[in-house]
Amino acid sequence: MFELLCMTNLILQSVDEIYKVASIALSPNVPAQIFMGLMVNPLKPGDVSYEQFIRESKGILESLRKRARIMTDGFNSCRNVVCNFTEGAMYSFPQIRLPPKAIEAAKSAGKVPDVFYCLKLLEATGISTVPGSGFGQKEGVFHLRTTILPAEEDMPAIMESFKKFNDGFMEQYEDTRGYSRM
Ligand SMILES: *[C@@H]1O[C@H](CO)[C@@H](O)[C@H](O)[C@H]1NC(C)=O
Repeated sequence: MFELLCMTNLILQSVDEIYKVASIALSPNVPAQIFMGLMVNPLKPGDVSYEQFIRESKGILESLRKRARIMTDGFNSCRNVVCNFTEGAMYSFPQIRLPPKAIEAAKSAGKVPDVFYCLKLLEATGISTVPGSGFGQKEGVFHLRTTILPAEEDMPAIMESFKKFNDGFMEQYEDTRGYSRM
């Protein structure tokens, strides 16, 4: 970058300023350092904002837990979907058991099966998720990744919309004569 700047006839002081700004991208700037300091050295009982800090951080964590519950229960109420409870992160990673006919339909569309499912989901509901195959999932096992971050009050409607799509999708592609439901 330096060479490039010299070649464009910038005066040295400007080069120094740009170099300084670019360096900030590599090292945390002052606000980031303050927040990191607060994280590793949280408020203690007796500190002025201690009560508020506890109230707010507990509130956020409790809300995330509630959202994780709504999402996990929602996924597990869906046809051919199983999901572990989100405990330590903000991601939910349900397994989607795609019927053979859906896998065939994906192949004819030139798509990996879970990508096919996620695109249909996006088209039908506007819910954007990441197909498990993007993470190098085991052959023949399908997941999608989503987050528990939407607002708590929006969560029930989101899961309802997901369920409506999923159950319709399964209905469409399931061969009810030979395929055992989970
Ligand atoms: C749930 O968690 C267990 C233990 O980590 C794992 O073996 C299993 O594959 C998970 N199930 C799903 C559907 O992700």
